Amino acid sequence: MNTITNLMNIDKNRLAEIGFLDKEIDPQLDLFAEIERLKKEKNAVILAHYYQEPDIQDVADFIGDSLALAQQASQTTADRIVFAGVHFMAETAKILNPTKKVLLPDLKAGCSLADSAPAPLFRAFKEKHPDHIVISYINCTAEIKALSDIICTSSNAEKIIRSVPEDQPILFAPDRNLGAYLNKQTGRNMLLWNGACMVHEIFSLEKITRLKIRHPQAKMIAHPECEEAVLAIADYIGSTSQLLKYTETSKATEFIVATETGILHQMQLNSPGKTFIPAPPDNSCACNDCPHMKLNTLEKLYLCMAYDQPEILMDETLRLAAKKPMDRMMEISRAAGLLG
Ligand code: 13P
Ligand code: SF4
Repeated sequence: MNTITNLMNIDKNRLAEIGFLDKEIDPQLDLFAEIERLKKEKNAVILAHYYQEPDIQDVADFIGDSLALAQQASQTTADRIVFAGVHFMAETAKILNPTKKVLLPDLKAGCSLADSAPAPLFRAFKEKHPDHIVISYINCTAEIKALSDIICTSSNAEKIIRSVPEDQPILFAPDRNLGAYLNKQTGRNMLLWNGACMVHEIFSLEKITRLKIRHPQAKMIAHPECEEAVLAIADYIGSTSQLLKYTETSKATEFIVATETGILHQMQLNSPGKTFIPAPPDNSCACNDCPHMKLNTLEKLYLCMAYDQPEILMDETLRLAAKKPMDRMMEISRAAGLLG
C-alpha cells in the first residue's frame, strides 16, 4: 500500500487556509498506523464512500453507499465522524447526528450534482408548482433538503416514489437522469429538475459498445445517474452497493462497470477471481474518477484527524428543516426493510 505518493496532491492553499502548511507530514510516517492510533485516541469512526481511493477504503471502519453511510452516521457512538466522501455526505451526517464532531478531509470536496441546484433558483421553481411534493436525491445541499418533503438515495428511490399516492404530483431534484430512470420504472411523470452528475454523464456509449463486442460474456452494469442511452444497454442498474452485490452473486466472471472507478476496489476484493473493466468516458482517460471524491487523500485524512479540522458546522434552524425529509426517508426505508 502506498503511504506517501499522494503527498503531492495536498492542496497547499487549503492547508494554508486552515493552518496546516507549517505542519507538513514527515514522509517516514506510517499513515496507516497513525490513523489507527488517532481513531482510538479520539474515539473517531471513519465512514467512507465506495468512490474514495483504495488506501482510504482500506483504513475506513465502514464503507457504503449514501443510504448505508447516512444510517451509520446516525447510529454511531463515536465522538467524531470522519467522513471520507463529499460535502453533502458529511453535511448529512451532521444533520442526523448533530452532537458529533463531523470532519471532512477536504472542505472543497463538493459535488457537481449538488451544485446544479442552487437553493434560490430551486425555491422559485418549487413556488411555481405548489401542488407538487418535492422528492430530492440525497446528493443536494442542506438548503435543498430543507425545501424538500422526502429525501431518497439510489438504493431506495423507487420505494420512496411508490410510497406516494399515484395522483400526487411530484417534483424530483436534482438529477434528471435518475429522475427519468425512475419515471420509467414507476410509470410516474415526475417533473424533473435539470441537474446531472459530471461523472455519470460522460460515459461514452460508443466505447462501451466496442467493449461489449470485445467482451461478449461481460455483464454491463450501470449506476442510474448515467444517461438513458447508457442505461438502455445495461444488464443491471443499481446504486453502488447494489452493483457491488450483483457482481458478488452473479455467475458472470466479467463486468463492464459504468460508475465511478473507486468501486472497483471493493469489487476486486470481494470477487478476486472476476474481471472488472471500468466503462470509459468520452475523453482521453480510460477510467472515470470523480474529481470531488478524489480530493480526499490519506494525508488529508490523517491531518484532519490530527487537528480536528475542517469541521462541518450548521445553523440549527437549517439543520432541523433538513432533518425532517431525511427522517421521512429513514421511516419509509425502515418499513421497506432497506436498512441494515
Ligand atoms: P450511491 O452510493 O448511493 O449509489 O451514490 C452514488 C453517488 O454518486 C454518490 O456521490
Ligand atoms: Fe457528485 Fe457525481 Fe461525484 Fe457523486 S460522482 S460526488 S454525484 S459529482
